[in-house]
Amino acid sequence: MSVLIAPSILSADFRNLEQQIHQAEQGGANWIHLDVMDGHFVPNISFGPMVVKTVRSITTLPLDTHLMIEKPERYLEAFKNAGSDILTVHAETCPHLHRTIQQIKQLGMKAGVSLNPSTPTNSLKEIIEFVDLILVMTVNPGFGGQKFIESMLGKIQEISNMIGKRKIYLEVDGGIDVETAPKVVKAGANVLVAGNSVFGARSIVGAVKGLRKSVK
Ligand code: DX5
Ligand code: ZN
Repeated sequence: MSVLIAPSILSADFRNLEQQIHQAEQGGANWIHLDVMDGHFVPNISFGPMVVKTVRSITTLPLDTHLMIEKPERYLEAFKNAGSDILTVHAETCPHLHRTIQQIKQLGMKAGVSLNPSTPTNSLKEIIEFVDLILVMTVNPGFGGQKFIESMLGKIQEISNMIGKRKIYLEVDGGIDVETAPKVVKAGANVLVAGNSVFGARSIVGAVKGLRKSVK
């Protein structure tokens, strides 16, 4: 699988959202990553389906929606209607993870499962057959611009081994920049979420290109 870049608009300037998303596209972004936070599962509140719908009207790139919310099963349809293509839920928020994953797929979206840094890889054992994407948090979710947790490299490698030949995206999220991107790709990641290093950069086009170059 070639490496995909998914800029997270959490760090974008929302006054110029349209322009900034177009710059990310111009740099070669593959997906747009949308971080939905509820102030319960994570300490921060971000945005919901309305903003996803707005982003849908700005770009034709796949919308990679990362739900950091409690009881995500209540909102699957709302995000489908807003235009999400990929919907990722946190294993920590889903007592009936298998059902939630099936519902996402029945709605016609790709289904992802995410693990916090402290959640062990063995929690994927019974669900791996059913998911399209595994999202490894390389920071504690809630905020952009945090420092990459170096010890997650072993976890990425371990999950990459678990995936084996299966067609499952292995996405990483948190503290990804030109320094950390080559390391996570070496460990087996093939989708890179990047917020601050892309939208915090002087040139968004240049930042996406730089990330790509760092993993070539
Ligand atoms: C963190 C979010 C990330 C965040 C990444 O809770 O899930 O997607 O936007 O931001 P950076 O790349 O700045 O660490
Ligand atoms: Zn995210």
